[in-house]
Amino acid sequence: MAMKLVLFVSVMVAALALPIAKGTNVVVQVGPSFVPCSINGSLGVNVTTTPAFPNARVQLQCGAVVVATTTTNASGVFSFSLNLTQVLLSPGVGLSNCNLVVTTPLSTCNPTLPPVGVLTSSIVFVRTDVLGVRVVLIFRAAGFRYIPPT
Ligand SMILES: *[C@@H]1O[C@H](CO)[C@@H](O)[C@H](O)[C@H]1NC(C)=O
Ligand SMILES: *[C@@H]1O[C@H](CO)[C@@H](O)[C@H](O)[C@H]1NC(C)=O
Ligand SMILES: *[C@@H]1O[C@H](CO)[C@@H](O)[C@H](O)[C@H]1NC(C)=O
Ligand SMILES: *[C@@H]1O[C@H](CO)[C@@H](O)[C@H](O)[C@H]1NC(C)=O
Repeated sequence: MAMKLVLFVSVMVAALALPIAKGTNVVVQVGPSFVPCSINGSLGVNVTTTPAFPNARVQLQCGAVVVATTTTNASGVFSFSLNLTQVLLSPGVGLSNCNLVVTTPLSTCNPTLPPVGVLTSSIVFVRTDVLGVRVVLIFRAAGFRYIPPT
C-alpha cells in the first residue's frame, strides 16, 4: 500500500514536472465537507434543505488506523489538513483505503434518528496544489451514507 501511494505521489509530481526538493512537505487535505443530520446522507441530497450535523466528531480512518480526528462546526462543516507522513505512519496504510467516519451518534443531532450505526464516506481526489515546497493533495468527501450496526 505504501508502495502504491509512493507511486501515486511520484506520478502526480511527474505530471507537474516538479523537481521534489529535499524538505518538500506533502500535505493531505480533505477540503471543507458537509455532514448531514440525516440517514440518507448528502449524496444527491439538496444541501440547502438537509439539516447540518454540528459538533460531530469526524475521523479519518485508513485501514483500521485513525489518522486524524476533527469536529464539525455549527454549520456541520469540517476539514482536515495533515502531513502525508501522518497517513503513512503504519505499514500497510495508504490513502486508497482511507474513509471518513462520523463517530458521534446521529441521535445527538436529532433524537428520532438511530443512536447506533455511523455515517461514513470515502474520499475522492480533487487536485494537487503546489505552494513553494508544499505539495497539497486535495480530497473531498464523496458523500456520507448511513451504515447500520452489524
Ligand atoms: C430521507 O429519509 C427520510 C426518513 O428518515 C425521508 O422522510 C426522506 O424522504 C428521505 N429523503 C431522501 C432524499 O431520500
Ligand atoms: C434546494 O432547495 C432550495 C429550497 O427549497 C431551493 O431553492 C433550491 O433550488 C434547491 N436546489 C437544488 C439543487 O435542488
Ligand atoms: C463552518 O465552516 C465553513 C467552511 O469553513 C464556513 O463556510 C462556515 O461559515 C462555518 N460556519 C460557522 C457557523 O462557523
Ligand atoms: C507537517 O510537517 C511540517 C514540517 O515537517 C511541520 O512544520 C508541520 O507542523 C506539520 N504539520 C502537521 C499538521 O503535523
